[in-house]
Amino acid sequence: MASISRQQLIAYEELDSTADLSADEQTIWQAARDATAHSYAPYSGFCVGAALLLADGTVFRGTNQENAAYPSGLCAERTALFGLAANQPNHAPIVAMAVAARPAGGDFGPALPCGACRQVMLEYETRQGQPIPLLLPSRAGTILRFSTLAALMPFNFSADDLPPASPAATQP
Ligand code: THU
Repeated sequence: MASISRQQLIAYEELDSTADLSADEQTIWQAARDATAHSYAPYSGFCVGAALLLADGTVFRGTNQENAAYPSGLCAERTALFGLAANQPNHAPIVAMAVAARPAGGDFGPALPCGACRQVMLEYETRQGQPIPLLLPSRAGTILRFSTLAALMPFNFSADDLPPASPAATQP
């Protein structure tokens, strides 16, 4: 057989408004919006916030951090995840994540994570061995609810694609 046509479906829910969210989801949704106030985006003027809800009730936030050397900046999703891992290495599992975005001084709009963030987000889900549900504001003004970050990154690159680490390179 020369070729096989395949399709892959992505499962998600689309909600009309925050009234359709659970109490925890409303908390994390609002935390991501609030975080945009701490964005450092003098070059793009695009303020992004990301929020993580931990199983112990902690909310950890991240914002995009730009730099005059443009590629040196970092997205909100990654400052949130890297910040959490760096500051609370033994943190409780992440049980929800949300992202929000708005132009400086403007209204909230869509916030769809870039490919690099999706790659990083997925590895944190794999690392904790437990799905991370995600809420995103869509371009249509609705709320997209994913039950796992894996839905955002089919055919991702992972540690499984690397050769086994040599003993010298393995962390203690
Ligand atoms: N940005 C994020 O923070 N998250 C994304 O997923 C996409 C883009 C930031 C990076 C940059 O500071 C600004 O938005 C414009 O690209």
